[in-house]
Amino acid sequence: MANKGRISNLKQLLRFRKPILNPRKRALSKALTIYDLREIAKRRTPRGPFDYTDGAAEQEISLRRARSTFEQIEFQPYVLRDVSKADLSADLLGRKMKLPVGIAPTGFTRMMNTDGEIAAVQVAQKYGAPFCLSTMGTTSIEKISETAPQGSNWFQLYLWRDRERSLGLIERAERAGFDGLVLTVDAQVAGARLRDVRNGLTVPPSLDFKTLLNAAPRTRWWWNFLTKEPLHFASLESWNGTVAELMNTMFDPTMTFEDLKWIRKVWKKQLIVKGIQRADDALKVVRCGADAVWLSNHGGRQLDRAPVPFLLIPETRNKLGSKVPIHFDTGIMHGADVIAGLASGANFAWIGRAYLYGLMAGGKSGVDKTFEILKSQMTRTLKLLGVNSIAELDPSMIKVIQEMRK
Ligand SMILES: Cc1cc2nc3c(=O)[nH]c(=O)nc-3n(C[C@H](O)[C@H](O)[C@H](O)COP(=O)(O)O)c2cc1C
Repeated sequence: MANKGRISNLKQLLRFRKPILNPRKRALSKALTIYDLREIAKRRTPRGPFDYTDGAAEQEISLRRARSTFEQIEFQPYVLRDVSKADLSADLLGRKMKLPVGIAPTGFTRMMNTDGEIAAVQVAQKYGAPFCLSTMGTTSIEKISETAPQGSNWFQLYLWRDRERSLGLIERAERAGFDGLVLTVDAQVAGARLRDVRNGLTVPPSLDFKTLLNAAPRTRWWWNFLTKEPLHFASLESWNGTVAELMNTMFDPTMTFEDLKWIRKVWKKQLIVKGIQRADDALKVVRCGADAVWLSNHGGRQLDRAPVPFLLIPETRNKLGSKVPIHFDTGIMHGADVIAGLASGANFAWIGRAYLYGLMAGGKSGVDKTFEILKSQMTRTLKLLGVNSIAELDPSMIKVIQEMRK
C-alpha cells in the first residue's frame, strides 16, 4: 500500500514533455537567445552564405565594437512603479507599430534560406513591425506588397549610376503602396568582406570540391536551394559573379547631397537616410528634406573602425533637437540593446543578422523565433526598468560603463 502511494506521488512529480519529432522544430524550441539561433544557423547553412551573413568588413572591428558596447551598458532602473501594462508600441513616422524594431534591408536573402523575404515580411506583419526590402533583395517589390498588404513595407534604395533605373524602382515602390523609402549612403564602394573572398563566394553559390565537403552535412539546404525557385532579384534580372563585383557595378561613388535633394523631389512619402555616422551629417540630410535619420555602419560591413551607431545617439539628438526621429542599428542581438538605444534618445531600431540567424536556423519559423525572443526580452527589460512604455524611457536610465569612443 505504502509503495503504491509513493509511486503515485512520483508520477505527479514526473512530467514527461511530449517529444518534438521534427528536428527543425526541436532545435528551435530549445533556442533561448539570438546567439542560440546563430549556432543552429551555423550548423544548417553552408559556409559561404553563413559567413556572408555573419561576417563584416576587413578585421570586423566595427561589428565587434558595436556588440561589445551593448554589453557595457548599465541600466539605472526605477522601482516601486506599476509596470503591469508594459507596452512596446512605437511611432514610425506617423504609423503606430506594435514593436519598436523592424527588419533592416538585407541583400541576397533567399541565399541564406529559400523562405527569404516572404517569410520575413509575413512575420514582420504578424508582430506589427516594419519590413524593409533591399535593392539587392531576392523578392520583387510587388510580391512583398501582395504578401503583406497590411504591413508597413519600406524599400531601401541604392542609388545606381543609371538614374533612370533608380527612378523606375522608386516608382514601383510608390505603386506598390510602400510606406517609405530608405536611402543607403554608406556604400560608396563595396566593403572588403574578407570571409567572402576567402570562401570564393559567388552569387548564386556554386559547388566545387571545397564547398562539396562543407555541403555534405547540410544537404537539406542544398536540396532546397537547387529545387526551389532560382534567385531572382528585387531589381535586377539575374547576376553571375561575386557579391563585391555586383555591388561595385551598381553603387555610385559620385552620389552627393544634390542627389538626395533630387530623391526628395521625386519621392513624396516618408524618406529615411540610412548610414549616417556623424551628427553634423545627420543635420545636413534633414536640411535636404529627410524625414528621419538612420544611424548605422551597415552592421560593420563597409568601413571598418567606424563609429558605434548606439554611441552616436546622444550627440545626434542634441544636434537635431527633439522632433526629428532617429533610427539606429548594428550589433543588436538582444531586446535590451533595443531598449538601451531608445532610452538613449533614438525612436526606432532595426535588425539585420538577428533575423537572418533565425531565417537560416529554421526558415519562417526561425524568423518567428527571433521575434518571439526579442519581444519577450524587450517586455521584460521594460518592466524591470520600472516603465510601462517606450515614451517613459529617458537617458538617465542608462550608463555606458566604459565608453569606447574617446
Ligand atoms: C547579409 C546582410 C546583407 C545586407 N544587405 C544590405 C543591403 O542590401 N542594403 C542595406 O542598406 N543594408 C544592408 N545590410 C545592412 C543592414 O541593413 C543593417 O544595417 C545591419 O545588418 C545592421 O547590423 P546587424 O546585422 O548587426 O543588426 C546588410 C546586412 C547583412 C547582415
